[in-house]
Amino acid sequence: MINHIKDEISFEKILVMGLGQLGLPVAKYVKEKGFDVYGYDNNQLVMNNAEKEHNIKKLENFRNIDAFLICISTHREDDVSTPQVEGLMAIIRKISKEARNGKLVSIESTVPRGTTRKMFEILEHRFHVVHAPHRWYAREEDVHGVNQLRVIGGVCDCCLRTGIRFYDGVEQGAEKEDLEYYNANKSYRSLGIPMYSVSTVELAELSKIVENADRYLQIAFAEDLYMFCKANRISFGELRDAINTKWNVNILEPRDGIGGHCIPKDTRMFLESSEIKSKILIAAQEVDKDYRKYIEGMIKDKQINR
Ligand SMILES: NC(=O)c1ccc[n+]([C@@H]2O[C@H](COP(=O)([O-])OP(=O)(O)OC[C@H]3O[C@@H](n4cnc5c(N)ncnc54)[C@H](O)[C@@H]3O)[C@@H](O)[C@H]2O)c1
Repeated sequence: MINHIKDEISFEKILVMGLGQLGLPVAKYVKEKGFDVYGYDNNQLVMNNAEKEHNIKKLENFRNIDAFLICISTHREDDVSTPQVEGLMAIIRKISKEARNGKLVSIESTVPRGTTRKMFEILEHRFHVVHAPHRWYAREEDVHGVNQLRVIGGVCDCCLRTGIRFYDGVEQGAEKEDLEYYNANKSYRSLGIPMYSVSTVELAELSKIVENADRYLQIAFAEDLYMFCKANRISFGELRDAINTKWNVNILEPRDGIGGHCIPKDTRMFLESSEIKSKILIAAQEVDKDYRKYIEGMIKDKQINR
């Protein structure tokens, strides 16, 4: 195992592309780990803020970069729940033209099944390509931030090995002699993020969108149960508290409908990832629509009766 490791990239200059809610914490984390970090964002205000407030250098030249971490948005600008990967494809074409061959390209944005392989084809396997989706959660960044356990998949074995070496530092199944090599090689550095590797890149893509589809389902059930309770004059809160005393049940709270720019979009990505659609998720989308109408109606009634 040790022979291939010696030939691999020495990671020094890292480019984070997309410096929004997710990309900025990623860039800050990579910087904290001692790498030379650059940023790239098509919104100049965002880029200037990252440079001024967080010392993330503006990208000057694609040719110096050893690893490209792509964190740009994957939804339509005018509709956060509709997936869109054209921006991502444009970035990949730019990397293909302007960067040096043999470097690491990691798609950290959430993408539909099959997207990472398409990018790899654009790059003609001149780069190592992995997908390392996030589980980042703004409200609990200290425990659910950039460096929590994440899934990683590579298009080829060499892509996965390179990705794991950069993120985790230690390949799964690495021999003792490999670890000695890692420790002895001074140019070698990693992000120190624990990674769970899967056998195909499509599995890594699915792992992320199914995680969020599962969350969608749980919230939709809470919405459904809430409307059931209202129709039957039952206290939802009391019923929920009673049920949640059981060790393996956790009914969520329904709030304003399933929102944000991740859960509805990722659920759609999952539904669009197969010709045979998940029936239960389609039903859950209907429940969410009904629940929103129901909540809107309640708000209007309250305003009229004021
Ligand atoms: N925010 C989260 O909690 C979270 C968690 C897990 C996964 N994700 C995923 O991470 C990705 C990014 O999410 P986010 O919340 O950071 O979005 P965001 O909208 O906050 O930030 C995206 C950034 O990308 C930039 N951008 C968009 N298109 C670009 C392009 N073509 N070239 C350069 N820059 C471009 C935008 O200007 C913006 O600053 C999405 O795929 C999202 O689903 C987000």
